Amino acid sequence: MERELQEALSNVHILNIAKKQEQNLKDYEAFETTFEFVIPELQISLSNKDQSVDGVKRDSDGDFILKRERKLKRGNEISITHAQCTLIKDVGLQVWHSSLLLCELLIDQRQKLKNEDIIELGSGVGLAGIIGGIFAKTVICTDKGENILKLCEKNIENNKKFLKEGSTVLTKEINWEETLLELLKWDTEERRIAEEAKYIIAADVVYNEDLTNAFFRTVFQLLTIGRWNKILYIAIEKRINFTLNNLAVCCEAYEHFKTCLEELDGYEFIKESNDVIHDNLLPRVKFNVNQVDIKEIEVYMDYERSRFLVIC
Ligand SMILES: C[S@@+](CC[C@H](N)C(=O)[O-])C[C@H]1O[C@@H](n2cnc3c(N)ncnc32)[C@H](O)[C@@H]1O
Repeated sequence: MERELQEALSNVHILNIAKKQEQNLKDYEAFETTFEFVIPELQISLSNKDQSVDGVKRDSDGDFILKRERKLKRGNEISITHAQCTLIKDVGLQVWHSSLLLCELLIDQRQKLKNEDIIELGSGVGLAGIIGGIFAKTVICTDKGENILKLCEKNIENNKKFLKEGSTVLTKEINWEETLLELLKWDTEERRIAEEAKYIIAADVVYNEDLTNAFFRTVFQLLTIGRWNKILYIAIEKRINFTLNNLAVCCEAYEHFKTCLEELDGYEFIKESNDVIHDNLLPRVKFNVNQVDIKEIEVYMDYERSRFLVIC
């Protein structure tokens, strides 16, 4: 409880200039930051959309205007409302560095995300979910608490021009401490999407051991229901602290996270199925854990990719 009363300020908000807003986010002042991202194909289609009536831009003489190189380079801006400096219990009201890396991974994987569903855990203000919605069929952004979910919804609404036609980005509550119970309360269709989503994503959800354990319990539940070939991406920022436990500088939360991942790696389970007629034919599913080589991810956003950022 004492820890919850400590304050935290994301580096993202130290390094970016935020615009103060008139409104407030319950207990905090509201700010707005724009995040520029570049997707070559999207730059073309958005600039067409902005400039033309019939999809083809013409000048006053009726001649076609060719797409200009400048447009391809300029980038699009997602505008996110957030708080600056919050209590630990409200850190979801800020944008965290690893979510920018997660956004870049999603942009990098954009071809594979087409027509897929994504469920995000600990979405916070919704930046990665919105980027996912540019490519995927459905993104369910989940978090704990009405305050954060409302802000996430507002950000989705404010950036809906970026979402793929026909795609949906919505918010739902998933508290890692009671996942399955919550899922059971959802509408049937949303529950089906959550259970069947091929991609599970999360950014900056590792900062406390108990929370990490609860997070992994949720992940395990989601990975073992519905379809068998699911992919989970977790973007993390390793935080180095001096700890009294170790009397040394270390990344305690990250070390614990790695232990949880190691326990998952290689784990095999038998998938329940009504069609199975012989025990030997029961479908076995295995977990594989890998670290993504972030040098392989192209740069799509403007921020410093520090060596403390990791994706598994
Ligand atoms: C550091 S923030 C990261 C937010 C966002 N993913 C980002 O990177 O900008 C951690 C997120 O985990 C969420 N969270 C913490 N405890 C949770 C719980 N028990 N169940 C669900 N989400 C939780 C917080 O509300 C917050 O949105």
